Amino acid sequence: MARTVFIDGAYVDEMDAKVSVFDRGFLFSDSVYEVTAVIEKKLVSWEGHTRRMRRSLGEIGMDLDMSNDHLLEVHRKLLELNEVQEGLVYLQITRGAADRDFAFPDRTIVKPTIVLFTQEKSLIDNQKLDTGLRVISFPDLRWGRSDIKSTQLLYASMVKQKALNQGKDEAWFVKDGFVSEGSSNNTFILSNDGKLITKALSADILAGITRETILEYAKSSGYIIEERPFSVEEAKKSKEAFICSSTTFILPVVEIDDCKIGSGQPGKNTLKLREIYIKNIKQELV
Ligand code: PDD
Repeated sequence: MARTVFIDGAYVDEMDAKVSVFDRGFLFSDSVYEVTAVIEKKLVSWEGHTRRMRRSLGEIGMDLDMSNDHLLEVHRKLLELNEVQEGLVYLQITRGAADRDFAFPDRTIVKPTIVLFTQEKSLIDNQKLDTGLRVISFPDLRWGRSDIKSTQLLYASMVKQKALNQGKDEAWFVKDGFVSEGSSNNTFILSNDGKLITKALSADILAGITRETILEYAKSSGYIIEERPFSVEEAKKSKEAFICSSTTFILPVVEIDDCKIGSGQPGKNTLKLREIYIKNIKQELV
C-alpha cells in the first residue's frame, strides 16, 4: 500500500509528494526535523517533541504558523490513513523554496515547507536486545550546534556506515576526550557503584526526549544520576552501557572499540530500565 504523506497542507499519495529543487532544505539543509515514535497506534512523548521542534525553529530564526493542536491532528490523521500500528512519524520543516542565496529569504514572501510521513517499524521487539550493540568511536566532526535537530546528518550517516562496514552496529562521537553522543542517539553508562552517567546538555548534543524521560523514570526508581562527561576509557570499564532514542528506546551496548563492557552481555539494569521506560510511556500515549 502506497503511503499517504502530508505536504504543505495536503494529504497526498507518496508518489505525488514533491518538493521544489529550490527548497532550502535540499540546497542548504536549512531545515529541522522530529521523529516521534508510535506504539499501539499512538504517539510517544508528543509534548517533548513539539517543545523541541519549536526550540530548533527558534534557534535557526524560523517560526511555524501552525498550532501544536493542528500538528497533532496531522500526526493522528496520517497514522489513521496509513494504518500504522508501530513505527514513527517523521516531520520536517524547511525554510522553503527561494533563489539560491546564503542569506535567508524574506519570510513574509517565502513560506516554510512542511512534510510529514509515517514509517512502520518494530520498536518493542528489537533483535539487538539479545546480542546488544557493538560500538566504534569516531571523532565528533559535526558542526558546533548539535543541540539543534537540523537535517545536516551527513557526518552522522558517514560514521554509522563506517561502523557497519567494520561489522559493528553503532558509532559514538568523541569530542575533547569525552563521548558526546551516538550517531543518532544519546549515551549512558552505569558505573560499577551503580550510578547512571550521561553527558549534561550543551550545544554538543541533542537534548534527547528519550534521555529526558529516562532520567525522570530512573530518578523515581531510585537511581543516582550524574550528568557529566565520560570518556571512552571510562565507558570501557563501566558495568553497563546503553544508547537511547525515540526509535530504539533503550538498547544495551556490549562492546566499545573491541573492548567488552562488563560481561559482554546486555546489562541487567539496562534491560530493566527499558522495561520501566516502555511501561511508563504506554501510560502517556497521545
Ligand atoms: N535521532 N542524538 C542524536 C544525534 C539524534 O539524532 C537523536 C535522535 C537523539 C535522541 O533523541 P530522541 O530521544 O529525542 O529521539 C540523540 C532520531 C531518532 C533520528 O534522527 O532518527
